Amino acid sequence: MVFSSPQKKYPLDPKLPAPLYYQLQKIIQKAIDEGLLQPGEKLPSERELAKTYNINRLTVRQATNALVNKGVLVRKRGLGTFVAQAKLNQGLFHLTSFTEDMISRGLKPATLLLSFSIKTPENQIQEELKLRPGGKIYLIERLRLANNEPMAREISFLPFSLFPGMNKRDLEHGSLYSLLRDKFNLTLGRAKETLEALAAEKKEADLLGILPGTPVFLRERLTYTEQGEPFEFVRSFYRADRYKFFFYLER
Ligand code: GLP
Repeated sequence: MVFSSPQKKYPLDPKLPAPLYYQLQKIIQKAIDEGLLQPGEKLPSERELAKTYNINRLTVRQATNALVNKGVLVRKRGLGTFVAQAKLNQGLFHLTSFTEDMISRGLKPATLLLSFSIKTPENQIQEELKLRPGGKIYLIERLRLANNEPMAREISFLPFSLFPGMNKRDLEHGSLYSLLRDKFNLTLGRAKETLEALAAEKKEADLLGILPGTPVFLRERLTYTEQGEPFEFVRSFYRADRYKFFFYLER
């Protein structure tokens, strides 16, 4: 059992001023940092940990709860407590695609096309994309995966008039931005994004493989061509347990 070694390496010390739960929390964290416990690995049960460290089960629970709250551990109903996957740390200052982001991290991107249709969009999107009254859009809904794990659900709206003849097959697997570049000669310009936190609804949660009510990030992107024409409005729902975004601020 992997935890028998840290127990010898880092024993609890009741004489220390730090509470026992906190000491155990640090021991588990250290075991993860040092690779003794790997992402996805199951933690020994509360009973085993309590026995190994000769402490109360409630103390163990307090330690693991703190790490669950920090996103270091995850509890899976009926299965136990596991080491969380490390979050993808993504800077928001370059206009990149999901495909590029995953490849640059050494992960294998994949896409599941959930729906493809041509519609008249809601007002907000009409305005953002500067459509003519009654103008139509392509509505593209995709699940984005990295190494076969769902990472985000994306709903993209693209003006129909800018991309005549786009079809379902074009989008079945690959990158939307590559398609727009290769088939429609589009050069990316800039984008405006907003980021907010939401609780995942049932449909979202099922697709992303998380529990309903779990936090997700909603990123809305309005993207412009090099010539300054808005060509894409996207709502992306990212798993908050797998993503951490960062920004550079200067003054
Ligand atoms: C990211 C952005 C989306 C964009 C997508 C394009 O996920 N959040 O707004 O549409 O990249 O990615 P790809 O070219 O891989 O389809």
